[in-house]
Formats: sequence, C-alpha cells, structure tokens
Amino acid sequence: MNLFDVYPLFNIEIVKGEGCKVWDADGNEYLDLYGGHAVISVGHCHPHYVKMITEQASKLGFYSNSVLNSLQVELAQKLGEASGYPDYSLFLVNSGAEANENALKLASFHNGKPRVISFKKSFHGRTAAAVKVTDNPKIVAPINDNIPVTYLPLNQIDLVKEELQKGDVCAVIIEGIQGIGGIIMPDDSFMQGLRALCTEHKAVLILDEIQSGYGRSGKFFAHQYAGIKPDMITVAKGIGNGFPMSGLIISPEFKASYGLLGTTFGGSHLACAAGIAVLDILKSEDLLANVNEVAAYLMHELKQLPQIKEVRGRGLMIGIDFEEPVKEIRTKLLFEEKVFTGVAGAHTIRLLPPLNLSMSEAVIFIERFKKVLNA
Ligand SMILES: Cc1ncc(COP(=O)(O)O)c(C=O)c1O
Repeated sequence: MNLFDVYPLFNIEIVKGEGCKVWDADGNEYLDLYGGHAVISVGHCHPHYVKMITEQASKLGFYSNSVLNSLQVELAQKLGEASGYPDYSLFLVNSGAEANENALKLASFHNGKPRVISFKKSFHGRTAAAVKVTDNPKIVAPINDNIPVTYLPLNQIDLVKEELQKGDVCAVIIEGIQGIGGIIMPDDSFMQGLRALCTEHKAVLILDEIQSGYGRSGKFFAHQYAGIKPDMITVAKGIGNGFPMSGLIISPEFKASYGLLGTTFGGSHLACAAGIAVLDILKSEDLLANVNEVAAYLMHELKQLPQIKEVRGRGLMIGIDFEEPVKEIRTKLLFEEKVFTGVAGAHTIRLLPPLNLSMSEAVIFIERFKKVLNA
C-alpha cells in the first residue's frame, strides 16, 4: 500500500532527538528551530517526559472514559494552576481541530445560535466546523460549507460590533497569535473590545491557543497580554510534546451534562502522563523565563539584519518577513547549515523552537542565519 501523497517532503528522515537537536538517518545533526511545527515544547526526549510515559505504558496505556482516571484530575489541577484558570474545567480530546470542533459545538449548544465570526488569514484545523472557520476556501469541501461564518479583518472592532448586533452569532473564534497566517498579533485593545462585545451580545469568545499557548508567547497564553479572560480556550500541539492530545478549557458559565460531549481516546492514561510531564517540566525548569530571555536576544539580533523586511512575534513564536520568497533561504538553512525552520506563506520564515532553546543554541542559529543571508 502507498501513502496518500498529501505532503511535500524534504528528503530527510529524522530518527533521533534530544533537547533542541535532531539527527537524520545518516547521522547529521540539526538545530531544531521548528519544533516539529510548534509541537515540541519541553524538548525532544526530555528524560522526565520519557520516564513518565515509559512507566505509565508499563502500567496501563488506556482505559475508557467510563471509569475514574485520577491522571486526568491531576492534569486539570496542574493546568489550572499553571495557566491562571483554576476555576475553569478541562475536556480532553486528541487534536487541535477536534478541540476547536468541540468548542464551537459547545458554544452553539450554550446560546442556541448558529453563526460564527472568524478572522481573515485564520487557521483552526481541517475537520467540519474547524475548517469552515478557517479562512482558506481551498481546504473547505462542499460537505463542510453550510456552517454560517463571517470572516472579518483583524483589529477592526467596529466591524465585529456591526455583526454581533445582528444577534445570531454563537461564537467569535480567534488565535492568540495567528500562526499559519504569518505571526500576526491581534492588538491588545482589539482583544479587550472583543471581550466586552461578546459579553454584551451573549456570544462565546473562543481563544485558539493551539499554536500560541503553553508558554510559547512568553506568557502561558498569548491573550494574557491583553488581560482578558475568554469563555473557552483551546490547546493542542505543545500540551503533549508530541503525544497527540488536545484540550478545551471551559469557563464556569458552561454547565456540563452527561453525553453533551464525548470521545474514545481523549484523556487516555498515556496522554495524561505526557501532559503532566510537560507541565512538570515547564514549572521545574521555569521555561517561561527562558522563553522571554532567549526571545529578547533573537528579536534584538534579527532586527539588526538589513536583509530582513520585518520581524514580528512574541516569545518563541517569531515571523521573519523578506521582500523575496523565502524558499531558498529555508532550503539553505536546512541543507547547508542544518537548521530546521518553518514558513508561513511565501515570504515569511517562522521560528517555533522548543521552549528550552538555550542561549548558546540561539547564538549558533543567528550565526548560521547570517551565513545564509551573507550578513
Ligand atoms: C492555531 C491552530 N489551530 C488549530 C490547528 C489544528 O491542529 P491539528 O492539526 O492538531 O488539528 C493548528 C495546527 O496547525 C493551529 O496552528
């Protein structure tokens, strides 16, 4: 059987990882400024993470959501404490799209309304509602097309107000920082405006922190720069450091009832062991402090380079814009300098390294980047 050929692949097979480094099958070492697409939060194969998963796998990998699971309770308690949301509840699923799917469904159950406001250049996943609230018609199939969604430009609060006044909006969904859209940040005042308008018009404010959350922005959640509290927050990617898991963080205003939401795999014992290990490491290694320190250095250095048009971002979620297409720069970084980076569109390099990227690794990255740019 062949693989369904939907990914353009680099001719590299990664077989080993440690911290912010990975190795290919030929033994070449790479610096990972991409984190496997923002997934590796606490570093590849962190010893505490490996130990927690290994021990759990040898005890019990999975049992269904029909019995008590104290690992879920421990994960929720630790997440509430780390994120500043101890009074919210947690519903665990398996992927980012699934978390957004459940958030949108819960919002519509809650207020009985059908329409969603989303934003230009947003990305929220590839399942039914998640793909429809994503601003990319190319990936919306006819079967996904009948959910009513209005896409508005970011940072134009009057347009949001106009739509919410119509009274049929169940939810506003927004990324903490737009990732695939190119590391675009909503203004703090826009976020505050959204919060006030959603409350006034009984619409649910959903913060998609799947890429920008779990410390990546330098705060636990990117929306915390605006000092607001959404009604729901979705998390995935870094939450399991590569173990597929995601979550929906739900404000106390939502009442749970049996059967309202459900999943087979979500919150499995193995997933929870991974999720607890990530939160343990974030805390014990004070990775938020590391993110802020290393990000300040990277930002400062990148802003000195005249070849770059603009540098944007918060924490270790950095977009580097060039006038020309970045394909050649990224390819040279990877094959000549052995550095993994991401992109967003044709003109933006996207940095999404593990949150424990060290200062000395950041220095090496800047040296190699300069070499590629002939700076
Ligand atoms: C902001 C955001 N939301 C949702 C998703 C979808 O997550 P998943 O691919 O796990 O379904 C992504 C993935 O890139 C994302 O960046």
